[in-house]
Amino acid sequence: MSARVVLGIESSCDETSAALVRIDGGSLTVLGCTTASQDALHAEYRGVVPEIASRAHLDCIIPVIRRTCESAGLSLHQLNGVAAGHRPGLIGSLLVGLSAAKSLAWALDLPFVGVDHVHAHLVAGLLDQPCLEWPAIGLVASGGHTSLFRMESPHELTLIGATIDDAVGEAFDKGAAILNLGYPGGSRLDECAEAGDPTAIPLPFTRLATLDFSFSGIKTALRLAACSPENAGRTGDLACSFRRVLIAQLIRNISRALDEYPSASVLIGGGVAANRLLRREAATLCADRGVILRIADPRWCTDNAAMIAATGALRIARGEQDGPELAAHPLSALARGHRGKQERTK
Ligand code: KG4
Ligand code: ZN
Repeated sequence: MSARVVLGIESSCDETSAALVRIDGGSLTVLGCTTASQDALHAEYRGVVPEIASRAHLDCIIPVIRRTCESAGLSLHQLNGVAAGHRPGLIGSLLVGLSAAKSLAWALDLPFVGVDHVHAHLVAGLLDQPCLEWPAIGLVASGGHTSLFRMESPHELTLIGATIDDAVGEAFDKGAAILNLGYPGGSRLDECAEAGDPTAIPLPFTRLATLDFSFSGIKTALRLAACSPENAGRTGDLACSFRRVLIAQLIRNISRALDEYPSASVLIGGGVAANRLLRREAATLCADRGVILRIADPRWCTDNAAMIAATGALRIARGEQDGPELAAHPLSALARGHRGKQERTK
C-alpha cells in the first residue's frame, strides 16, 4: 500500500490545531503541526469558557490549517484524506473543526473520518516511533479522562478501568489551584514538585479493588494539609507528596492490568503523560516487567491535531470513512456505558 498524507483537525476544547501525518504501512510520521493555544484567554477564569473557546476556534482555524501546510511544504491538493476530532468535547468547539474538515473533504473530494479524542490520545504514543507489539495495556490520563484499556491492536480497545470521580488531570489542576500555582495547573504543579520531598506530607493512597481510579479524596486531603499552619510555606513538599499519590494510583493499576491481561506493551497518552514522575515510574515498571513502554512524546501529550491525523490515517488506510452527517458528541464512545461495559464484569 502506498504512503498517504492525512490532514487532522483538533478543536475539542481550548486548542485549535491542524497537522499533517504520513502513514506508510504501520508507521506514522508527523510532517507538520500548528497549535494555537487559548490559555491566555481563559486564564482569568481558571477554566475554559465554552463561548470564548468556540469564537477563538473560528478566528484561528483557517490560519492554523494554512500555516501547517506551509510548514510541511504541501498543498491541500497533495492530501489523501481529512480527519477531525468529533467527540468528546465542547459542542461549539468541536463543530468548528468538524465543519472545516467536512467542507475541505467535500471540496477536495477526499475521504473524511471523525476521530474519538480519547482513542487519539493513545495513538499519540505511536507517532514517529517504530511499530508496536500487541496486545498492549493503554492508559489515557488527561484533563477529562482517566481510562485503562486492553488493546489487541490500535483499532480494538476494551475499557477495563476508569475514574469514578475526577480525572487525574483535573485533580492536578485542582491541586494546583489549592496551592495557588496558577492555570493551567498540571505542568506547574509537576515542576514545583521536582524540588519537594515526596514523603514530607502524609496523603492517602487510594487502592480500589477494581481497575478503576478515584482522585477526589486525595484532593480533599491536600486541601486540608494546605490549610494546616504547620505546612505553611511548604508548597514544594505539598506538590511533591500530592503528585506521588496521584501517580502511584496510575502505576498500580497499570501493573495490576498487566497481571490480569498479559501484554507485550504499555501505551500511555493524554496531558498527564507529560508528567515527569509518571514517565520515570512507568519506565521502571515496564523495565521490571519486561514489556515495551510507548509513552507519547511530550509534544503529543496535550491536545494536538497530530494524534487526530494519525488516528484518522489508520482508519482511512483500512478503507473506512464517515459521511457528512457525522455529528459532534460531548462524550467519548470509549467511556463507560458505551463499549467495554460487559468486559468489565469478566
Ligand atoms: O489531554 P489534555 O491536553 O486535555 C484533555 O483531553 O483533557 O490534558 C490536559 C491535562 C490538564 O489537566 C493538565 O493540567 C494536565 O493535562 N497536564 C499535566 C502535565 N501537563 C499537562 N498534569 C501533570 N503533569 C504535567 N506535566
Ligand atoms: Zn485531550
